[in-house]
Amino acid sequence: MSSPVNHSDTGETLLEVKGLYVNRSGSAILKDIDLTVERGEFVGLVGPNGSGKSTLLLTIIGVLKAHKGTIEIYGQKPMSRKILGRIGWVSQAAANLPKHVRITVRELVRLGTLNLQNMLIFGGNKRRQKVQQAIEMVGLQDVANVDVSRLSGGQRQRAVIARALASDAELILLDEPLVGIDRNSRNSLLKLLDDLCHDKNKTIVMISHDITAIRQTAHRMIYLEETIRYDGDNDNFPDLTSLANLRGIAHVHDDIHSGDEHHHETNKEEE
Ligand SMILES: Nc1ncnc2c1ncn2[C@@H]1O[C@H](COP(=O)(O)OP(=O)(O)O)[C@@H](O)[C@H]1O
Ligand SMILES: [Mg+2]
Repeated sequence: MSSPVNHSDTGETLLEVKGLYVNRSGSAILKDIDLTVERGEFVGLVGPNGSGKSTLLLTIIGVLKAHKGTIEIYGQKPMSRKILGRIGWVSQAAANLPKHVRITVRELVRLGTLNLQNMLIFGGNKRRQKVQQAIEMVGLQDVANVDVSRLSGGQRQRAVIARALASDAELILLDEPLVGIDRNSRNSLLKLLDDLCHDKNKTIVMISHDITAIRQTAHRMIYLEETIRYDGDNDNFPDLTSLANLRGIAHVHDDIHSGDEHHHETNKEEE
């Protein structure tokens, strides 16, 4: 199944972040982030605790505001109507849905079709079909009518991914989806995500602190610690010692991308 690394064969830019700075409670969390993601890519986003990974994804979806810089998704600003439903968000908390909420897998996935755009274009049949397809894509057809609270952590994570798929999301952002699931479920979840990229042309950005696991699957790795310190092929992803050396050294990724044009015209001094 594993196809060659070729994450930009469509050349269609889906996400473009330029010179992004984000503050939270008055402290600078992200600085000078430049990031371009093409359709069909599977990007692993790693970095130490508190390095700003969740902050970056939350800013991309528009929940947090940029202090400076720009984010474009299909050329649109985060949260703009034109991209409604095209981004799916899967958080770690999603796998820990409260046990007292009684909802079946199918009902949960149906929630994914509840956005304005889909309301207008989906008739009842079309909606049922979308929901069924999404459930099949993640392999939960046998438990479609089972209560979500009775699923394993890995199955719940799949159910939430199916909810994103039912909304026709093309860009799927996952924040630590591998936490709390066993090794087998982890591997099959990674395979599912890989298949979604290759077969369904989905684009995935996934945060994980499990560098080994994510390196097996992602086509491209980003190491974030306040700013992007590595962005490239997973084969050339630095080992732990080199990672430590990357810390604190400004604009290392300029060297890695030798020959690449970069947008550093607004360079800031690193404190
Ligand atoms: N709600 C918040 N208000 C203020 N600061 C926050 C908030 N959430 C996280 N932070 C801070 O932002 C930094 C980055 O956090 P986060 O993006 O969650 O990191 P990561 O996901 O890489 O572990 C941390 O220093 C954290 O303390
Ligand atoms: Mg986080």
